[in-house]
Amino acid sequence: IPIRLADYRPADHLIDRVALDISLDAHATRVTATLNLRPNPAGQRGADLVLDGEDLTLLSIERDGVALAPDAYTVTDTSLTLRQPPAEPFTLTIRTQIDPTANTRLMGLYRSNGVYCTQCEADGFRRITYFLDRPDCLAVYTTRIEADRGEAPVLLGNGNPVEAGEAGPGRHYAVWHDPHPKPAYLFALVGGRLDRLGGAFTTRDGRAVELGIYVEPGKAERAAYALDAVIRSMAWDEKAFGRIYDLDVFNVVAVSDFNMGAMENKGLNIFNDRYVLASPETATDADYAAIEAIIAHEYFHNWSGNRVTCRDWFQLCLKEGLTVFRDQEFSSDMRSRAVHRIGEVRTLRARQFPEDAGPLAHPVRPQQYAEINNFYTATVYEKGAEIVRMLRTLLGAETFARGMDRYFADCDGTAATVEDFLAAFAAVSGRDLAAFARWYDRPGTPVVTVAGEHDAATGTYTLHLRQELPPGPARKESAGETDAAPALVIPVALGLVGPQGVLRDAVSDRVRDGVFVLERTTDTVTFRNVPVAPVVSLFRGFSAPVRVATEATEADRLILLAQDTDPFNRWQAAQDLAMAHLVAGSRPESQRPNPDGFVTALGRFLDGEALSDPAFAALVLTVPSESDIAHALGDTIDPDAIHQARDDLRQSIGTGLFARLTRLRDDLSDPAGTPFSPDAASAGRRALRNVALDLIAAADPQEGTARAERQLAAATTMTDRLAALSVLALIPGPAREAALTAFAERYADEPLVLDKWFAIQATIPEDETLDRVRRLQSHPAFAMTNPNRVRSLVGSFSAANPTQFNRADGAGYDFLAETVLALDPTNPQIAARLLTGFGSWRMLEPGRQAKAAQSLAAIGARPTLSRDVSDIVGRMRNSG
Ligand code: ARG
Ligand code: ZN
Repeated sequence: IPIRLADYRPADHLIDRVALDISLDAHATRVTATLNLRPNPAGQRGADLVLDGEDLTLLSIERDGVALAPDAYTVTDTSLTLRQPPAEPFTLTIRTQIDPTANTRLMGLYRSNGVYCTQCEADGFRRITYFLDRPDCLAVYTTRIEADRGEAPVLLGNGNPVEAGEAGPGRHYAVWHDPHPKPAYLFALVGGRLDRLGGAFTTRDGRAVELGIYVEPGKAERAAYALDAVIRSMAWDEKAFGRIYDLDVFNVVAVSDFNMGAMENKGLNIFNDRYVLASPETATDADYAAIEAIIAHEYFHNWSGNRVTCRDWFQLCLKEGLTVFRDQEFSSDMRSRAVHRIGEVRTLRARQFPEDAGPLAHPVRPQQYAEINNFYTATVYEKGAEIVRMLRTLLGAETFARGMDRYFADCDGTAATVEDFLAAFAAVSGRDLAAFARWYDRPGTPVVTVAGEHDAATGTYTLHLRQELPPGPARKESAGETDAAPALVIPVALGLVGPQGVLRDAVSDRVRDGVFVLERTTDTVTFRNVPVAPVVSLFRGFSAPVRVATEATEADRLILLAQDTDPFNRWQAAQDLAMAHLVAGSRPESQRPNPDGFVTALGRFLDGEALSDPAFAALVLTVPSESDIAHALGDTIDPDAIHQARDDLRQSIGTGLFARLTRLRDDLSDPAGTPFSPDAASAGRRALRNVALDLIAAADPQEGTARAERQLAAATTMTDRLAALSVLALIPGPAREAALTAFAERYADEPLVLDKWFAIQATIPEDETLDRVRRLQSHPAFAMTNPNRVRSLVGSFSAANPTQFNRADGAGYDFLAETVLALDPTNPQIAARLLTGFGSWRMLEPGRQAKAAQSLAAIGARPTLSRDVSDIVGRMRNSG
């Protein structure tokens, strides 16, 4: 039975204060919760009190100090109901027992490598005690944690530490108090043997904040980059958003078993250790960038999420979309803005566009859900961030900043909605944002079709624009809202370009600060002072999350690549040029166009500026992914044909530019003894060097093998080592197997590095790979209980190996179905996540589609599926 946004009602009771006393034990943790309750004036008078609870053993329950009679309450698998609770404020004292060792779902209180930790978002707190486990129930928490001192010398909670001491033989305790009212999903505790890397930050308003990063014993050194990122995040949020930290301590704990990336618990962020631990020996440049971004993301939640939280889970994008936008801005300021923007869009297109085009399409603010944990999606996060970005584009940076201040001021301490967010911007701008708000409710990626005509006589250039939602599941879901759907408000950043450069004299009354706002289904923009036919540069900086359809020719795109001032669109032009070849090459009936013109243009580009911005050049040289090509094709996908077309184009580029690429590698090599630095400029040099290696190997596998082996032997960074290993992995033979074996031996004690090793093998595009993956499942370093291991091996196979996952015989689908079913009883969240690997199955050619349907049916036939998996499999099969 789905939960609907339209059915939202305030809770009938409020909990003002919570005192928790938690005595940690591996199998029998005791929780005493003292709740100060009262009827909610906004709720229904006289209603029963229904508390959520799951996998709890109730030991006792008292009201105002008196044990409740058994007939005063009812306990089910999911609730505790108190009949006719008092109309006055009252206190409930509930004692429960839980088994953290048996908690394989990693929701609620569990143990990871012997460390007690928690994950409560979205609805895990009910697995710790009976509670009103909903985000609009804000309470002030005091937590006493007790544990065996040997087993858990470190005891951490939300807020500030209050006291600590002895608690009987061998045991000790700590009390934490969080003065800021919060929903239960932000509760956290940690108990374990952990090392601490400490630091300090003084806020703009003079508060001395103690910082701590807690990691597995012996790994404190590897927390240095994360600590530095915390300090930079705190300083940046003060400067960029005026947000100041509000507690005396800020702690981050790294755990090795974690369902997601990280969690923003108040004052006590808990992280998947892969987003904390980094050393030059073990982490790639991409790892460093991800650590910086996720540390920032969770820290920024302290305001966008914690101080202002969500009224209900339909509003998830209110905190996630906004916080992704904020962390993207942070990373852009820390690194290269243009390069980062391209990365953001690559992620959006790789993850969100397919989701929006497939059976799991949903609005950024869903109207209903069966299982909320299935809605922590690219749509809610990444498209949600794009909506915030469009708002800034439409209002201008200055008005946007005032709107943010207004939002934080008006909504501080509340559980808010998307409407509250937009109201703040409407108030400071005087603008009506009702039409803009449609972005939150409309699933699917809009297509904007643009055609231009030049009139030499009048020196004008006219653009005709048209927006529509393409047919597909998304359009079906916005039932009735199809062709006649009211238009979205789409900011189109644009400019005109000629063979000699940007046409600065071309102007239009309808373009302000380089942006035209498309607010109707069709519209027309006319530029003056355009003596010769120009090329239009559309959606500069990717100003809206849409697909663009134009009649641009190869010649037009070559002009944009060479002359546009917008780096994003220069990169986009290179992608479009490549895509034209890839799409044609993927269709058996179509003729392969000659790539020489494109390759020549890339060569000219490299000669001109490869060394001035290597990170950008690396992106320009990177051919669109197989998944991008599949989505450009749209239907009747043959993954083998796509793979072949992509290989062919890489080979053409590698061959055409061979001499340049080898020279580039020499020019970019680091002089011996260069110390490692993870900064963006150094990372950019490594990126370009390694793209060049990949193209060299595509052109000449023998030369590629030799160079990769040399690089592997000499590498001083994980980035270079892994890039070399990835190149070798594509070339069958003894060199590959020897390199893989040596790598595994070298990193036998480094689970996070072995994850990379699993992933590389899972993505080899050869028929033997499925057998290899099955074999690796019994490798001693692999564990089905660890989400990182499962994602690396099985997730990489299904999400990043299109030819092998989509084997024509269906064996890849069977394998994924098997794994999902094996995992579902112990960790349904991860099982459901893996299952989204089938997300684009409707696009496949009929033979593969039939095989995928069989595997999905096999999953659906299991009678005891979790809600997580049955929700996904149901949506997946009902579409189409
Ligand atoms: N709020 C976390 C973040 O994005 C994600 C937690 C999601 N957890 C879950 N079980 N759905 O920062
Ligand atoms: Zn988040």
